[in-house]
Order: sequence, then C-alpha cells, then structure tokens
Amino acid sequence: MKVRELFIALSSLILINLHLHHCLTLNSSDHAEFSSSNHTIENNSTLVSHRSPKYFPFYTLGRFAQDVCTGTNSLTGTCMLKGQCNDLGGTLTGTTSCSQANTQQASCCILIKTCGGFTQTNNTYFVNVNYPATFPGGSRCNLRVSRMGTDVCQLKISFLDMSLAPPTGDGVCSFDYFTVTGGSSPVPRICGENSGQHVYVDFAGDNPVTITVATSAAFTFNRRWHLHVQQIGCDSTSRAPFGCLQYWTDTTNTISSFNYNSAGSGQLNAIGVQGSRQIANMAYGACVLTQPGMCSITWSLPGTDIFAFTLTGDVGAVVPAVLGTAAVQSQVCTTDFVVIPNAQQAGIVMPSDRFCGLGLAATTSNIRPFVIYSVTDANETPDIGNRGWSLTYVQNMCPV
Ligand SMILES: *[C@@H]1O[C@H](CO)[C@@H](O)[C@H](O)[C@H]1NC(C)=O
Ligand SMILES: *[C@@H]1O[C@H](CO)[C@@H](O)[C@H](O)[C@H]1NC(C)=O
Ligand SMILES: *[C@@H]1O[C@H](CO)[C@@H](O)[C@H](O)[C@H]1NC(C)=O
Ligand SMILES: *[C@@H]1O[C@H](CO)[C@@H](O)[C@H](O)[C@H]1NC(C)=O
Ligand SMILES: *[C@@H]1O[C@H](CO)[C@@H](O)[C@H](O)[C@H]1NC(C)=O
Repeated sequence: MKVRELFIALSSLILINLHLHHCLTLNSSDHAEFSSSNHTIENNSTLVSHRSPKYFPFYTLGRFAQDVCTGTNSLTGTCMLKGQCNDLGGTLTGTTSCSQANTQQASCCILIKTCGGFTQTNNTYFVNVNYPATFPGGSRCNLRVSRMGTDVCQLKISFLDMSLAPPTGDGVCSFDYFTVTGGSSPVPRICGENSGQHVYVDFAGDNPVTITVATSAAFTFNRRWHLHVQQIGCDSTSRAPFGCLQYWTDTTNTISSFNYNSAGSGQLNAIGVQGSRQIANMAYGACVLTQPGMCSITWSLPGTDIFAFTLTGDVGAVVPAVLGTAAVQSQVCTTDFVVIPNAQQAGIVMPSDRFCGLGLAATTSNIRPFVIYSVTDANETPDIGNRGWSLTYVQNMCPV
C-alpha cells in the first residue's frame, strides 16, 4: 500500500469513531447536504468505504484534506461546512478565505474551546471561560486534544495571552499552573506571565494530550489565557527536534525563560525577602531552527536590561553597574543554570558549558540543533530577586 493510500485508509478508520449529529446524504446532483435526523456512523468499514473523498472532503480528518484559513477576527481556522463546524462547536466567520479547492459551501471555521473541551481539529484555541474577561480562579480547566491522524507527531501550544498567578517567592507554581499530560515529552509546570511563549509536546501514539490550567481561589488574581493549539505533522519543518520544549525559527530573536520580566517578583520568599521570578523545577531545551547557511549561534544580553541574566545569588548584593556583565558570570553551577553546548566566549572554548550567576558574556555555540537548556532546581529561596534569563540570539553565517 502506498503511503497516501494508507493515509486515506487510516483517516477513514478515524471516521468510524465519529458520532455525527447530522447525516450527510448525496442527492442526484451530487451535492452534499445535511439531513436533520440524528445519525451515528457505525464501526463498519464497508460503510466508511462508500464515503468517497470526492463527496466528503470535509469529513476526511487527514492533515492535508482540510485547508487552513484565516478568519475575519485574524484567528486561524479550518475550511469546512457549516454543519461540521457546528458539530465541532466552532464558529463560522463571515467571509471566507477558503480556496477554490473547496466548494463554495465551505467557509472558515474557528474553534474556540474552554473548560471540559475536546478537539481533534488543527488550530483550536483554548481560553478561560468568558475570555477576554478574566477569571477569578478556583478550578482546573482542561482541554483534551487527540491527534488528527497518525502522521501527526506533536502539538505546539502557543501562549497568545497567558497571565496566571505568579510563582511563590521561592519560585514554585503552587497557586496556579499550566501543565500538559498524556504526551511522551515532559512539560514543566508553568505559571505567571507568559504571553508570547510556547511549548511543544510529543504525542504518545494515539493517546490524547490533556492541557490543564489549574487556578487557586486562595490567591486573588485576575487570570486569563488564550492558547493556540496546532497539530504538527511528523514530516513538518516546524516539528521540534527531540529534547526541545520550545522551537524558535527566526534568524535573530530575543527569548526568555518562563515568567521572565525585568520587573522583580512581588512575592516574598521563605526568608522574608524579595522572591524569585525564576520558576523552580525546570529542565528543558529552547531550540532554534538553523536557517540556511548558518553555522553557529551567539547568545547575548539585550542591551538595556541589567536583570536579563539573574539566575543564582542575590541580585541586591551586586552593584547595578556590574549586573549582567562577565564579572558576575559563573561556571560553577549546580542549582540553576543554562547550558550552551560547546560554549565559546571571545573565540575561546569555555571550560564548562554551564552558566549561572548574575551575568553572561556573549556566548557562541556551533552545536545543532541550536539550543539553550534551562535548568532550575526545586529551591529558589537563595536566589534573591532573580528574574531568570532573557537573551538575544543571532545566527551566524558559515565561513565562506
Ligand atoms: C439536489 O440538490 C440540488 C442543488 O442543491 C437541488 O436543486 C435538488 O432539489 C436536490 N435534489 C434532491 C432530490 O434533494
Ligand atoms: C439528536 O439527539 C439528541 C440527543 O439524543 C436530541 O436532544 C436532539 O433533539 C436530536 N436532534 C434531532 C435533530 O433529532
Ligand atoms: C472498530 O473496528 C476496528 C477494526 O475492525 C476494531 O479494531 C475496533 O475495536 C472496533 N471498535 C469498536 C468500538 O467496535
Ligand atoms: C456493514 O455495512 C454493510 C453495508 O451496509 C452491511 O452489509 C454489513 O452487514 C455491516 N456490517 C456490520 C458488522 O455491521
Ligand atoms: C496545522 O495548521 C498549521 C497552521 O496553523 C499548519 O502549519 C500545520 O501544518 C497544520 N498541521 C497539519 C497536521 O496539517
């Protein structure tokens, strides 16, 4: 069986498990219509094999059968029929950006799910109840996501808007947290301010992945979240390499650890002084897609932010003029640190690839995938006033 045929056969199998509230019927003019009667498709491959993709393009849940479109509200959706969009709990946007490959009956279906939702459709949004209004806290809110087909390997969850309660002053996400279960790659607990961040998670076969936002009523805070959930094909160039919780694609960008902000934590730590923004219990790779012709990557502090590398130690114990500089960079790191593989500074290979302390000199790595690993232990209490890291990377052209 050719791959394509196998794929069609597999997407037909998926159909078997669908419970549709409408029955698609063909009339003599070969137009698809919805009957108003309830109908459940049986687990019967004979029945499914009668469903020619020619007539049922929108019910083929395969990854290429459904066109991605942009809705009027600039969210990403899927071209489909009104009936299917209704079945999935989506909203059809007024104008269509769906291509001629689809019939005029298809328009852009935007799926926005909240607590208790389920999706098996690419480009689903997960929001708090009544988003963009805020949520006062006090529940676990889940979205379950199944992959669209066997050729989907990952989910990318982009935090378009994500504001949860901060970590404790000791760096622990104990009031609120975002977490992902059911996948085969680890996702740490994340809390605080994370708009613009994202995570990738590998599917464990056909197991659904559950995205959870847990919030505590005990901490007064106006939470809100608006997450974009994309299914990533196994062969996709956007698939994150193994070990990469994040995968950034620009030639140059400024990226940061979770909950990074130049403004310090408003929480006190266990010894009653300013806490850490840096979240405890992290161990992940933030990877960067190697652009064509690029051979190395250089990480450095963005010019204006003296707190952009505050990982270990007491920020307040160092004069501001020194913060961020090589003078307060350490390579003796056992608690919180970043790893930059085969690190070089000013052309010299460094004795270790670990960096911690309160500063970092420009550091270059030629190891692919380009990556910075971020590691924190369970105890941020000694790390007074820390923010984490916010680094600008630049990919460097191969020597000619
Ligand atoms: C089939 O569809 C066409 C076009 O929508 C319509 O004109 C016709 O009445 C339909 N026939 C039946 C039997 O429903
Ligand atoms: C479909 O079934 C559901 C539950 O069994 C029922 O509430 C609904 O009214 C039915 N819809 C139609 C169009 O028969
Ligand atoms: C549906 O059919 C497939 C293939 O014959 C079988 O493996 C599966 O267990 C069936 N599912 C149900 C719910 O009957
Ligand atoms: C499957 O559907 C075909 C055609 O409708 C029918 O002849 C057959 O008995 C069905 N098989 C099962 C297991 O329901
Ligand atoms: C899901 O949609 C994104 C665009 O938002 C696209 O890049 C990706 O390839 C789609 N995934 C699949 C499996 O088709």
